[in-house]
Amino acid sequence: MLREHYLLSDEPFATYASYVGAVGAHVVAKARSMGREATLAALRASGLRGHGGAGFPTGIKWSTIHGHPCATRFVVCNAAEGEPGTFKDRYLLRNNPYATLEGMLVAAHVVGARQVYFAAKASFARELDRVRCAVEELRHAGVLGTIDVHVVAGPDEYLYGEEKALLEVVEGNEPLPREPHYPPYERGLFATPTSPNPALVNNVQTFAHVASIVRLGAASFRELGTADTTGTILFTVSGDVARPGVYELPAGVSLATLFNEVAGGPFPGRKFRAALAGVSAAVIPADRFDVAADFGSLSRAGSGLGSAGFVLIDDSRSMPRVAQAVARFLFVESCEQCSACKHGLGNASRALDELFVPGKPDRACVDRALGGARSAPQGNRCYLPVQGAVVVPSLIHGYEREYAPARAPERAATEPWLIPVMVDFDEATRTFSYDLEQPHKMPNWTYGAPAKPTAPPHAGAAV
Ligand SMILES: Cc1cc2nc3c(=O)[nH]c(=O)nc-3n(C[C@H](O)[C@H](O)[C@H](O)COP(=O)(O)O)c2cc1C
Ligand code: SF4
Repeated sequence: MLREHYLLSDEPFATYASYVGAVGAHVVAKARSMGREATLAALRASGLRGHGGAGFPTGIKWSTIHGHPCATRFVVCNAAEGEPGTFKDRYLLRNNPYATLEGMLVAAHVVGARQVYFAAKASFARELDRVRCAVEELRHAGVLGTIDVHVVAGPDEYLYGEEKALLEVVEGNEPLPREPHYPPYERGLFATPTSPNPALVNNVQTFAHVASIVRLGAASFRELGTADTTGTILFTVSGDVARPGVYELPAGVSLATLFNEVAGGPFPGRKFRAALAGVSAAVIPADRFDVAADFGSLSRAGSGLGSAGFVLIDDSRSMPRVAQAVARFLFVESCEQCSACKHGLGNASRALDELFVPGKPDRACVDRALGGARSAPQGNRCYLPVQGAVVVPSLIHGYEREYAPARAPERAATEPWLIPVMVDFDEATRTFSYDLEQPHKMPNWTYGAPAKPTAPPHAGAAV
């Protein structure tokens, strides 16, 4: 069963035939018969925004490529999903890979691309398998037409998900973001001095929404969600919460409803302290959970929707431990192309580590952490250090008392917080599992000592 404009079915679609049977229409054929301009107009009218993190209007992005003077264009699906606390793309691909593939084929039609790429991590074996099988089904059903679909299995690095780094990986290179004046719509794939070959890069979920917009129209899509963020959102809720999972709800639901009613609230005897929206926006204190979950409302509330992955933190947690883990993640996962980034985030990470070393902590640690995080975005090719400059200070301000030198012994006794880089979700037990190697990852992307079998600090199984 698939409700109008929803992406997740009660039961995963086993075959393309069962998907078409449930939704009742061949979307790609419909888009081809509507023509490029009309399809693009429907997308623009839908108000769809990108679900990869920034919420950029999808219709505007497609129009830019559509109107580009270079005749060679590409379509690329960003399935690298590496934001801590986010599992929605993988969940969607397991349940319904067809909507995403249809959206990619509609995009190829609208922007005039002959080659489309689906780029995920090699470690996403189950999703890659599902997508490869789905592509073959679409080929046999005659849906691909003259379009070539390539499936790319890339590295595990966080930066792979950054769109300019993603294009580098598709070209066979390391996941290192290109210079900022080369956005994908200006320099796409396999460019030459005379042919920039613009690429349309969208997230898995963004492409999936396109399918129902073409099938059912923009007007009914706009009826779901808010004027700011139309349609549904796939929320990942994890951390210190009774019923973690991936939930599809209309945009605009309040965080309080999502966390307390849908995801079951805090563990017995515990209270929520805050929620992290991945590591790309400021932490949201629990007394602000009455905010609507859409891009505009969360931005006005001083945070952001990002990729709608929310990690709950309860009153058993130490906020300095959360700050330590977040700063280290961003430091380790950054690259060395822009010198201020690794330097600033490294200073922030080391200063926060010192807070837990007996005899070391003083007020200067906190100042160095703030200064380091804020100095990281300089001449930056990508948004990663900007995330650090926002999220790290947000985990200090408002929680200052926990950073006081007088609290050092109490702080040192707290458990390290595991950054929730998700590796799997067990539907039967509603359990996320996390990457226990991440704390051992070095800033040069090699690994130190093998992982010790420590229990993750919040609900979830270790792998
Ligand atoms: C460090 C970093 C990591 C990112 N990781 C992802 C990711 O895993 N998946 C994704 O779709 N977008 C990711 N993004 C955002 C992409 O760069 C890009 O904005 C997005 O794929 C565009 O798709 P959309 O318009 O459909 O949102 C990341 C951005 C940054 C700066
Ligand atoms: S801003 Fe940081 S992470 Fe991004 S490319 Fe530059 S050094 Fe690498």
